Amino acid sequence: MAEKHFKYVILGGGVAAGYAAREFVKLGLNPGELAIISKESVAPYERPALSKAYLFPQGAARLPGFHVCVGSGGERLLPEWYAEKGIELILGTEIVKADLASKTLTSAADVIIKYDILIIATGSTVIRLSDFGVQGADANNIFYLREIDDADKLVAAIHAKKDGKAVIVGGGYIGLELGAALKLNNLDVTMVYPEPWCMPRLFTAGIAAFYEGYYANKGIKIIKGTVAVGFDSDTNGDVTAVKLKDGRVLEADIVVVGVGGRPLITLFKGQVEEEKGGIKTDGFFKTSIPDIYAVGDVATFPLKLFNEQRRVEHVDHARKSAEQAVKAIKAAEEGKPIEEYDYLPYFYSRSFDLSWQFYGDNVGDTILFGDNDPTSAKPKFGTYWIKEGKVVGVFLESGSPEENKLIAKVAKLQPPVQDPEQLEKEGLAFAACV
Ligand code: FDA
Ligand code: NAD
Repeated sequence: MAEKHFKYVILGGGVAAGYAAREFVKLGLNPGELAIISKESVAPYERPALSKAYLFPQGAARLPGFHVCVGSGGERLLPEWYAEKGIELILGTEIVKADLASKTLTSAADVIIKYDILIIATGSTVIRLSDFGVQGADANNIFYLREIDDADKLVAAIHAKKDGKAVIVGGGYIGLELGAALKLNNLDVTMVYPEPWCMPRLFTAGIAAFYEGYYANKGIKIIKGTVAVGFDSDTNGDVTAVKLKDGRVLEADIVVVGVGGRPLITLFKGQVEEEKGGIKTDGFFKTSIPDIYAVGDVATFPLKLFNEQRRVEHVDHARKSAEQAVKAIKAAEEGKPIEEYDYLPYFYSRSFDLSWQFYGDNVGDTILFGDNDPTSAKPKFGTYWIKEGKVVGVFLESGSPEENKLIAKVAKLQPPVQDPEQLEKEGLAFAACV
């Protein structure tokens, strides 16, 4: 059995892994000290591209164009960069066993990898319709999107089913981004989701009404308040129809499912403390086990601003938590203190020529401002969330970079609101005065 040993191992080769590697190099890394183990066969890349530019009908993004850290305006880390720095990329390698007590990882091919310090960065996996027994959910051309291989399969199907019918199951991030991407590829798109409006985890009814109207104007059909309960397929096993709980049947050549993600922590079950579905960490991303850190989608960490433990499944936190963990590791080695993680939640999405950003927390009362008419030539609107008389969250569609900085500042500073009606009238001008 082959065996390797490294001072530092990052398990998972996604966004967090790439940003952690860059931080290690920045703070001082000797060749041979760090290895990144990834099930994927490519070096860390900016995952958000997979549901956006990767699917464009023309000028689509392809690797090596979107390796980390281009998504945050940083240097593009090509595979050669890791080689130059003496970082071993152990790609196409799935770890199937993790024994934290003996600091040993075992791969599917029985390679043993030992470490002094481990950073868990395994991210999330998709929830599958077959997980809740939806009939026929294993038919061909039913797609999920998490990794680059999934995106490649979807791109091949888009080409094979030119001008065909697509059904999107789910009205969250994947649903909205993929609905748009498939429409841009000239498929006839129908979206189906159980809630009364799209993206209910974040959107208010007012925000959602804009996107639903905009998508409808692009020719996307939206069916709400029902779920997919089964699929029909032909003799080749290719999907032909989606059966809905309300009795409707939708013809389909391609189905894309986005019904949520689940953090990948099963390898560590019973070995490390968990909270809120993730691995519990402190403000330095240290877990309950010495020398083991957890970052990105898998970490449930103290969100200082809101004084509670949270798990965040977004790219900005993946990048920043990875950097914080590496800073903490290096500082501990040098016996120096560092500041605790003080994160301002930041989410964003893009589809068609729309682009929104959100900062803070979406709790409390809401105030919608601006022009959210989906038929406007240049719609621009936002929403403030107000809790206990203070603004705690801000959403803005079509903001300029300066305006997006302003709303981030508001969410961070949480200014008091004297008169909600005045706030509605002022809209963005309120943010400019904070
Ligand atoms: P990430 O998922 O990036 O990486 C985990 C890595 O670990 C993968 O390479 C995986 O193969 C590997 N792995 C897991 N288990 C393993 C094992 N046992 N052995 C070996 N390797 C293993 N966010 C946002 O803010 N804005 C956006 O626009 C988007 N867009 C977006 C699009 C799509 C299609 C997805 C799937 C996700 C987004 N996100 C997003 C979310 C964002 O991409 C996500 O939060 C980060 O990628 C999380 O980074 P991590 O490094 O934690 O996991
Ligand atoms: P999500 O949680 O955003 O949305 C899941 C949606 O699934 C729900 O809103 C609901 O409409 C729908 N749903 C649930 N059960 C259903 C059922 N039985 N039938 C039909 N619909 C059902 O999850 P997602 O969109 O699948 O995204 C997966 C992961 O990828 C998340 O971690 C997300 O944060 C990440 N992601 C983020 C972005 C972004 O930040 N811009 C983009 C893409 C993906």
